[in-house]
Amino acid sequence: MIVRDGTIEDVEQISAFLQQLTASGKRTRPDDEAFVRANYIEDADKICCAVAEEDGVVLGFQSLKRARAGNEWGVEPGWGIIGTHIRPSAARRGVGRALFAVTQARARDAGLAHIDATIGATNPEALSYYEAMGFQTYRTPEGSVCKRFDVST
Ligand SMILES: CC(C)(COP(=O)(O)OP(=O)(O)OC[C@H]1O[C@@H](n2cnc3c(N)ncnc32)[C@H](O)[C@@H]1OP(=O)(O)O)[C@@H](O)C(=O)NCCC(=O)NCCS
Repeated sequence: MIVRDGTIEDVEQISAFLQQLTASGKRTRPDDEAFVRANYIEDADKICCAVAEEDGVVLGFQSLKRARAGNEWGVEPGWGIIGTHIRPSAARRGVGRALFAVTQARARDAGLAHIDATIGATNPEALSYYEAMGFQTYRTPEGSVCKRFDVST
């Protein structure tokens, strides 16, 4: 498995496995190719979008963007906002862990002090994952758990 920057070439595969996550009830946000391209690969606030790949198969990706004033998650402007999505057939194989090693370094390089992960309150895998990566709960808006990671310098 390698971890690299995501490109337009990855959009089709990412959209396909996001649709699998939607079908199994693990995703509620859009999953079409236009959304993936605009929100993960080409987002104006993007810091990075790391992709894990093995033999040409995209196993998962992790997006990190800078929170701007008035963002839809209510995250403090200037913090990072992270999102992680792993192909269901590749779950619990260390893909998320490998992605965060890269994202964390990119956050440091970008001068971020904190990263927010907003997680569905009924998503135990994601809650466990972010806790394992060192995120800690700092607020709990209706239906969500927001965890923060303090980027070490
Ligand atoms: C949550 C998710 C990102 C985890 O990614 P992953 O690649 O499967 O995670 P890893 O294999 O790197 O696991 C790292 C650690 O996270 C924790 N973890 C991951 N999946 C877990 C699970 N299903 N149950 C309990 N702990 C889990 C463990 O501590 C694990 O370490 P270990 O395997 O050594 O015990 C992935 O399951 C996913 O994409 N879920 C669907 C989409 C989603 O909910 N994304 C988050 C939106 S906020």
